[in-house]
Amino acid sequence: MNKIKSASDLYQKLQSVKPGSVLCHYSMERCEKMFPIVEEINALKKERNAVILAHSYVAPEIILTVADYDGDSFKLSQDATKVKEDTIVFAAVRFMGETAKILNPSKKVLIPGPLTGCSLADSITAEEVKALKKQYPEHTFVCYINTTADVKAECDVCVTSSNVMKIVENIENNKIFFLPDRLMGANLKNEMKAKNIQKEIVLASGCCYVHEQYDPDLIPFFRNQNPGLLVVSHPECNPAIALQSDFVGSTGQMVDFLQKTDKNAPVLLLTECGLNARMQYEMPERTFIGTCSMCKHMKSNSLENILETLKNPEKAVSIELDEITMQKAKKCIDAMFDYASR
Ligand code: 13P
Ligand code: SF4
Repeated sequence: MNKIKSASDLYQKLQSVKPGSVLCHYSMERCEKMFPIVEEINALKKERNAVILAHSYVAPEIILTVADYDGDSFKLSQDATKVKEDTIVFAAVRFMGETAKILNPSKKVLIPGPLTGCSLADSITAEEVKALKKQYPEHTFVCYINTTADVKAECDVCVTSSNVMKIVENIENNKIFFLPDRLMGANLKNEMKAKNIQKEIVLASGCCYVHEQYDPDLIPFFRNQNPGLLVVSHPECNPAIALQSDFVGSTGQMVDFLQKTDKNAPVLLLTECGLNARMQYEMPERTFIGTCSMCKHMKSNSLENILETLKNPEKAVSIELDEITMQKAKKCIDAMFDYASR
């Protein structure tokens, strides 16, 4: 991937990001302040034999200047398996770091951001899943990748937002327990109903505090104000949003969809605002209706704490998991790769 090489190139790219919050305002002065940090990170990566994986929701300067791999959670899981270097610095949240560790266990996996949680992953424990399995002994337990390794270890098949519909459709058992996202689960039920697929789907009660904030009642208002509007949303949003959307998909799938659509159509992109910022600099000629729902966990990653992680890896959050949990969780993740490839 071609990385940005100077502060003025970075400014050229980021000046089209519309300020939704102070984090999204890029001046030349700010880019100039960032650049010495970028150069130090890139030099230290080589010295430490490290790579940086970054989710699409982290600040755009991380993706543009220091990330070796970026994308949605499914792509990053695949990328993690390819890493040859000794250390993975994962600019995202803890569950993504755990997945990388499970898939490439000989690597040191470090998380730079201090807020490593996720409102979905934190909403259910392995003990709760064990109890649910006793209550629903005939159900196949399907977990969203936004879960801890301990929870994955108790489940049968993992899914991401890019493959949840396809995988659940193809699971032989008609009885499914889906966890932890009740909103994604409601979208899943609607999709099965629309395709006339008979599945009895029981849902857990978690939800993403970022996507939950979007209000379906605002969509008719935005459509009225912006003729030809394309509404694009993540399946963690309320089903009343999905039903009014022109496209629903993972962060990566939303980008692919937008690249194929008419450049003149304005876009309402209902997901974490990091993706809005990314789309604004990748497609500066397009109109994106400003939305700002920000994930504090993803946004707690910064150039500063990535540099600190590479300078002092022994002080960083390092993913450590016991052997049995890793083996059981890997089985659940491998089942996803298997279903996704069919
Ligand atoms: P993606 O799988 O689309 O990357 O989503 C991960 C996530 O945390 C969404 O909130
Ligand atoms: Fe978790 Fe929501 Fe943040 Fe994604 S956006 S990491 S689901 S809290």
